[in-house]
Amino acid sequence: MTHQVRAVVARGKGAPVSLETIVVPDPGPGEALVKIEACGVCHTDLHYREGGINDDFPFLLGHEAAGVVESVGEGVTDVAPGDFVILNWRAVCGQCRACLRGRPWYCFSTHNAKQKMTLTDGTELSPALGIGAFAEKTLVAAGQCTKVDRTASAAAAGLLGCGVMAGIGAAINTGNVGRGDSVAVIGCGGVGAAAIAGSNLAGAAKVIAVDIDDRKLETARKLGATHTVNSRDADAVEAIRELTGGFGADVVIEAVGRPETYQQAFYARDLAGTVVLVGVPTPEMKLELPLLDVFGRGGALKSSWYGDCLPSRDFPMLIDLYLQGRLDLDAFVTETIALDEVEKAFERMHHGDVLRSVVVL
Ligand code: APR
Ligand code: ZN
Ligand code: ZN
Repeated sequence: MTHQVRAVVARGKGAPVSLETIVVPDPGPGEALVKIEACGVCHTDLHYREGGINDDFPFLLGHEAAGVVESVGEGVTDVAPGDFVILNWRAVCGQCRACLRGRPWYCFSTHNAKQKMTLTDGTELSPALGIGAFAEKTLVAAGQCTKVDRTASAAAAGLLGCGVMAGIGAAINTGNVGRGDSVAVIGCGGVGAAAIAGSNLAGAAKVIAVDIDDRKLETARKLGATHTVNSRDADAVEAIRELTGGFGADVVIEAVGRPETYQQAFYARDLAGTVVLVGVPTPEMKLELPLLDVFGRGGALKSSWYGDCLPSRDFPMLIDLYLQGRLDLDAFVTETIALDEVEKAFERMHHGDVLRSVVVL
């Protein structure tokens, strides 16, 4: 059997997205069919539409989603129909060299659905990050579904599926932020704001938010930043050093993805401190640093891919903290929109006045 549902499709490079009817097959072995309840709009969806990821148009966009499992294919035991799940793009294989070494959060061979979703004329769709959740229903590998507490709001929960998890994970997993640490976060969009929330969860004593937009700094404060720096008016490195006794922060998280902000992060950390790059650069960007400084300052320069998260470990834990009132995921939901408003949400992204627009179905 197949299902015909409405979905947001990017048909060609730079062209506005369109609402289309797509065909979703019943789940085969190892797959799950998920009825989507909410899906956040992420920069990566826009990058797909602009042809910045690859040329496999048409794309089925959307990948920060939560919903309910409708049916599962043969051999699926981890999730069952009726489960409330967050979709992830790290369904670990258990067999690659990372998994075998007990480091599944680096899995090099993650799973997606084997069957293709199509347009009604049979054209195969490429789902964004192997998910494709700006749709009433989508087909994924069962391992892409992580069951969490049903009482969580779907709009808030879905955000853990990508950007918010990337930010929280950059702090708690990659950066290893601990009790009493000083942390600086450069760039306080959805990802950076989540890094601030994550640093707080981890017990950081000082959390310095840096952005060029005062609106973002205000949200950063709500999420637990103890200090804010507008780096249009002030030198970010000097300001962070001043706020940390002249030394720099133990962990600096770069959530912009540009050479100049990376350089700030590099020099704004204390000796033997850690830099975490979670912002995503573009292919033409280059970084130049005195190698002697890289050596002499010691410490660790790390990058954080999806917050080095393990969905089965991190999603249920973070949803529990959310339901206990210790992690304000609702603060990331700036607006809820309908399926046919994704294009408008892309436009709003450029104005910088949203952390996340979330499609609610
Ligand atoms: N210095 C400080 N902050 C900056 C600078 C700068 N030079 N340039 C931009 N910013 C701020 C913006 O004002 C904004 O608040 O960085 C933030 C970026 O946030 P968003 O555009 O909302 O992006 P976000 O979803 O947080 O993602 C951040 O991670 O996933 C990647 O592609 C994404 O590279 C992007 C990054
Ligand atoms: Zn693996
Ligand atoms: Zn994303």
